[in-house]
Amino acid sequence: MILNDIIVTLVKYQVTVSSVRFSTKINMSLEKAKQVAAYKAVDKFVTNNSVFGVGSGSTVVYAVQRLAERVKTEKLKVTCIPTSFQAKQLILKHNLILGELDTNPRIDVTIDGADEVDANMILIKGGGGCLLQEKIVASCSKKNIVIADYTKDSSKLGDRYKKGIPVEVIPMAYVPIRNKIVDLFGGEVKLRSAVAKAGPVVTDNGNFILDWMFTNQDLDWDHVNKTIKMIPGVVEIGLFVNMCAIAYFGQPEGNVVERSAASN
Ligand code: A5P
Repeated sequence: MILNDIIVTLVKYQVTVSSVRFSTKINMSLEKAKQVAAYKAVDKFVTNNSVFGVGSGSTVVYAVQRLAERVKTEKLKVTCIPTSFQAKQLILKHNLILGELDTNPRIDVTIDGADEVDANMILIKGGGGCLLQEKIVASCSKKNIVIADYTKDSSKLGDRYKKGIPVEVIPMAYVPIRNKIVDLFGGEVKLRSAVAKAGPVVTDNGNFILDWMFTNQDLDWDHVNKTIKMIPGVVEIGLFVNMCAIAYFGQPEGNVVERSAASN
């Protein structure tokens, strides 16, 4: 009986150890993929005496790291425009030059992550709730480059990313907006809840986020983008249509796959 218990415990331990090893391996390859994509984009697109839009999210952390290295070793002068509170903190942490749109309304290049990129280079963004400032900064950039790991590379929106399309809204209007989106395009809309706070997520701009779980993957995303944007109380939608020139997808093996809008 005792021997049996010992064997069961050992088998369980073995299973746990191997699943921990497996998930650690996946996480490492994801982080590596993010890093190689970010480094490649910064090496290729950031130049001296330029204005650089700093995206938000976990992949951008590597881009800022690489930028800081280049600024130091190559003595570059790069003014950084943040797309979120997180981006601003990253710029400050690495002692980079912090700029703003008031003084630098024209950005040379913005490098940002994405939650999903479809075959037509349409993006879902805002998984981290920063879509509004990200879209403003992208709209001021001569060139927008996406950096992402291989899991973000999709044929159709919704193939791989299952958390829906974020919509930033004025708090008092979230219920009517929720109903209007469902009436117009179907699916389900959820108010995003905070994790370490009771109640909803409040964005950097003091708004709420609705996550629209669309069911029709063949919608005209340009039309959807413009139509939802026109609903009173909608501040921004996390669909980026015709905004991104090039996407770099880091692969598990450490290489980077490049996709451009023109190549589609
Ligand atoms: C932030 O709101 C988002 O738009 C991010 O750019 C996007 O979620 C990608 O984030 P990761 O690099 O963390 O995947």
